[in-house]
Amino acid sequence: MKILGIDGSPRKDGNTEKLVRRILAGAEAAGGRIEFLKLADLTIDYCMGCGACRATGDCVMHDDMDRVYDTLQQSDVIVLGSPVYAWQVSGNTKVFMDRLCRVLTPQYESRLNGPKKIAFAYTQGNPDAEKFKPYFDYQEKLFPFLGFTLAGRVQATGTRAKEDILAQQETLDRAYSLGQKLAV
Ligand SMILES: Cc1cc2nc3c(=O)[nH]c(=O)nc-3n(C[C@H](O)[C@H](O)[C@H](O)COP(=O)(O)O)c2cc1C
Repeated sequence: MKILGIDGSPRKDGNTEKLVRRILAGAEAAGGRIEFLKLADLTIDYCMGCGACRATGDCVMHDDMDRVYDTLQQSDVIVLGSPVYAWQVSGNTKVFMDRLCRVLTPQYESRLNGPKKIAFAYTQGNPDAEKFKPYFDYQEKLFPFLGFTLAGRVQATGTRAKEDILAQQETLDRAYSLGQKLAV
């Protein structure tokens, strides 16, 4: 079982990266093969809306999304992490999501090359865990539409300084347990 962690936080070693890595640590402990990609370390341009990928399955832009897409196709489970920025996912995360357009054929069939699960890791400054729940529920609906199976969510609240999440042992434990579950 291969588990790919994708971190959509631009901040190096911040709360979101720590949360994604914690999920991966649980997955690895349960026997999974893991890989971590940080979108901000990669060059992934905006989708330009040409629509060519829908017919061909390939993107006309050849940047680091080629590698992300290939790695995604080689994985059984994706863990997608994002901080909440302006009540939504980060720009890095959204650009990645737009570039997944190539997953769908013109008939809206999925080009995923096998069953794939996806789990989410969110961090937010707001201490209210319910605040963005309707948004998370909504934005995750994209992924079953693309062919993924939803497999869980971990959320850290009240995280501002880079180390804040380290004081939230229960959240870290939930992340680790989710990772263990994802790897089997
Ligand atoms: C540009 C920006 C916008 C943000 N918008 C929100 C927001 O709308 N709601 C919220 O709860 N936190 C918001 N935050 C706080 C981050 O979500 C929070 O600190 C998060 O844990 C940062 O993740 P990181 O440590 O991986 O960078 C924002 C932070 C930044 C930098």
